[in-house]
Amino acid sequence: MRVLIPGGCGFIGSSIAIYLKKNIKNCEIITIDNLSRNTSYLNEKKLKKHHIRNIKKNLSTVNTSYIFKKDKKKFDFIIDCCAEPSVEISKKNPKLVFNSNLTSTLSILEIAKKNNSKIIYLSTSRVYSIKKINNLFKNITYKKKMPKRIKINENFSVDSPISFYGFTKLSSEILIKEYSFLHNLKYIINRCGVISGYGQFGRQDQGFLSMWLWRHLNKIPINYQGFGGYGNQIRDILDINDLCILIKEQIIKINKINNEVFNVGGGIKNSISLNELTKFSNKVTQNKTLIRKKIKTSNYDLRYYVTDNKKIYSKYKWRVRTSINDIIKNTLESLILNKKKLLKIL
Ligand SMILES: NC(=O)c1ccc[n+]([C@@H]2O[C@H](COP(=O)([O-])OP(=O)(O)OC[C@H]3O[C@@H](n4cnc5c(N)ncnc54)[C@H](O)[C@@H]3O)[C@@H](O)[C@H]2O)c1
Repeated sequence: MRVLIPGGCGFIGSSIAIYLKKNIKNCEIITIDNLSRNTSYLNEKKLKKHHIRNIKKNLSTVNTSYIFKKDKKKFDFIIDCCAEPSVEISKKNPKLVFNSNLTSTLSILEIAKKNNSKIIYLSTSRVYSIKKINNLFKNITYKKKMPKRIKINENFSVDSPISFYGFTKLSSEILIKEYSFLHNLKYIINRCGVISGYGQFGRQDQGFLSMWLWRHLNKIPINYQGFGGYGNQIRDILDINDLCILIKEQIIKINKINNEVFNVGGGIKNSISLNELTKFSNKVTQNKTLIRKKIKTSNYDLRYYVTDNKKIYSKYKWRVRTSINDIIKNTLESLILNKKKLLKIL
C-alpha cells in the first residue's frame, strides 16, 4: 500500500506516518511538507530514520504533475494533515492560512483525482459556530466551574462566525465532498478536538497543553486569558496514539465506511480546565510558574469544547484509551527529551 501524507512533517502527520509504517505490512509512505512550522524539521529527521521520504514543496503552489513525474506509482490513500493550524494566525494573516489550508486542499484533491486515492481529512472542531457554543454558557458565572460538561455532536451549527481558520477547514470539507461526487473518490472527514501527546511542541497560539507544560518546565509566565481570567475554560484532549489507531481502522474499513463526517476527541473523561492543567503541571514538573490574569481574550476564543464521540463509537470498535494523566506524561516526556533543541526554537 502507498500512502501520501501532506503536512507529514507536522505533529499529527509525522506521528501517523511512523505509526502506519510500523503497523501496516508493506506500507510505503511519502510526505509533502514545506517545513513552514519551525519544529517540523525535527520530525523530518525522525521520518528519515524510518525510511519515510519528504518532498519539500509548498502545497499551495506546487505543480501537481511534478509529484507524478517523481512518483509514477499510485497513492492508495492520502491522509491530509497540511495546514497552518492556528486560529490566531488566521486572523492576522488570512492569505497565508487560506493558501496553506484551502488552496493546498485543492492541490491534494488534484493528486487524489489522478490517483483515484481514498482521502482521510484532518478537520477540526473549529468548524462549529463560536457564538452558539459560547451562548450555551451565557448564564454561567465565569467565576464558577462549569456545572455540567456537555458534548458537541456533528449536527451542531456551523453558522459563522467560526474563525477564519474554521472557514478554511469547513471549505476544505466541502471541496472534498465536491471532488468525491464528481470523481467518485471515497473520503472520511475527522473533525478533531484538541490532539496532544508525545511529539507535540506547542506554541502560545496552538498546542496549549504542550505549551503549558513547557512553560512550567522552564518557569516562563503564562496567562489565564479571557472569561474573567479565572482559568475555568475547558477543552477535551485526545492522545495522538489513539488518533493513529483510529486512522489505521479507517484505512482498513474504507470500503465499508466512507463518505462520512465524524467528531473525534477525548470526550468528557479527558476534558480539563486550565486550572486543573496547572495543578497537573505543578505536580509533574515539580515547578510553579507565574500565572497572570488577563481579562480580555480574542473574539475567536471559546469558553468550552468537549467532543461527542457517539457517532464514531457507533461505526468503529475504536475507543479513547489514553487518560488525560497519561497524555500529560507523554507530552512532557518528549519535551524533556528534546529540551536542548526546543530551547532554541520555542
Ligand atoms: N493539533 C490539534 O490539536 C489539531 C486539532 C484539530 C485539527 N487539527 C488538524 O490536523 C492537521 C495537523 O495539525 P498539526 O497539529 O500536526 O499541525 P502542524 O503545524 O504540526 O502540522 C502541519 C504541517 O503542515 C505543514 N504545512 C503548512 N502549510 C504548508 C504548505 N503550504 N505546504 C506544505 N506543507 C505545509 C507544516 O510545515 C507542518 O509540518 C491540520 O490540518 C490541523 O488543522 C489539529
